[in-house]
Amino acid sequence: MSTFHYCHSPWRLAVVTVLRDSLLLPMKTPPVPALLSLAALALAFTAGCSKKTDSAGAPKADAIKIGFLVKQPEEPWFQLEWKFADKAAQDLGFTLIKTGATDGEKVLAAIDNLAAGGAQGFIICTPDTRLGTAIATKARAANLKVIAVDDQFLGADGQPIKSVHYLGISAGKIGEEVGKTLAAEMKKRGWTPADTAVCAVTFDEVATIKERTDGAAAALVAAGFPKDRIYRASLRTLDIPGAFDAVNVLLTQQAGVKHWLVCGGNDSAVLGAVRALEGRGFPADSSVGIGINGTDCITELEKEKPTSFYGSMLLSAKAHGYQTAEMMFHWIKDGKEPPLDSRTVGVLITRDNFQQVLKEQGIR
Ligand code: GLA
Repeated sequence: MSTFHYCHSPWRLAVVTVLRDSLLLPMKTPPVPALLSLAALALAFTAGCSKKTDSAGAPKADAIKIGFLVKQPEEPWFQLEWKFADKAAQDLGFTLIKTGATDGEKVLAAIDNLAAGGAQGFIICTPDTRLGTAIATKARAANLKVIAVDDQFLGADGQPIKSVHYLGISAGKIGEEVGKTLAAEMKKRGWTPADTAVCAVTFDEVATIKERTDGAAAALVAAGFPKDRIYRASLRTLDIPGAFDAVNVLLTQQAGVKHWLVCGGNDSAVLGAVRALEGRGFPADSSVGIGINGTDCITELEKEKPTSFYGSMLLSAKAHGYQTAEMMFHWIKDGKEPPLDSRTVGVLITRDNFQQVLKEQGIR
């Protein structure tokens, strides 16, 4: 990609014309006023043409355009990623182009638009991880750099595309934390495996979601919870209505359970489950749900009366939004390639600490 920028300022044309004319004139010293006006024109040329590269030939910050595409723009998690990416754009002086890319068609159209608009790269949480190869190929053809955030691209073989730069969470470990906390809460409440079951609200098409619910289930088993009392509720759509529907089916199938321990791929998955439990008449203190994200459950934790939504593993929307944008910026500007795989951690928030932790993290 060429980094040289042609300036189409009228001043440039004027200088070129004067120089050409003076070259065509017979060799004699031009009068002083003519020289002065030439110098003035040259000066005006330099001022009028904003060069888009610095002295080392790297693009200037204000010439850098970066796209940020998310699969679910209505979810607080993604809105926060955007908010932090906006902050990076402000701090570093580049232009951020945000797009809600809710399906494959929108993703491909957005990549075309970015290329046509002069962007040099984009960050994406894809609406479908199986689009990975198509996105990577299209980006390469358009000379755009890509960082996948949250959901890692999958290749035709269903395996992660490890050659595409990725920033996501340590999904298995965070899931395990959820499982350990659920086991501890069950013990605290004196519930027995005979009257308790686990509802794992999952969306296995997305590897990071499967790893989270698998991690939670593994930690529960490690804590002595019977494996055959762990039920998976598979979502058709990874959102509250999708979880509500899937968990309703499970509750019908397992009507005898008194206490439910709920884990899920994210806050929406667990919130949908909690709403389904409420719909079935389960009292708030009969079940415990722990989400992941910590950003999509704030109003739930703020409710005056506690619900079965006990807490959430708060992830770093700042790292996912600001840091990916910053990585992309330096990759474009200075050729500094980011690590191929970066993972972030989570911290448990409950009604006891969420206000303080969210404040510390710049979310509230
Ligand atoms: C997935 C989920 C989001 C959020 C991110 C975090 O994309 O759908 O809700 O948990 O992972 O990386």
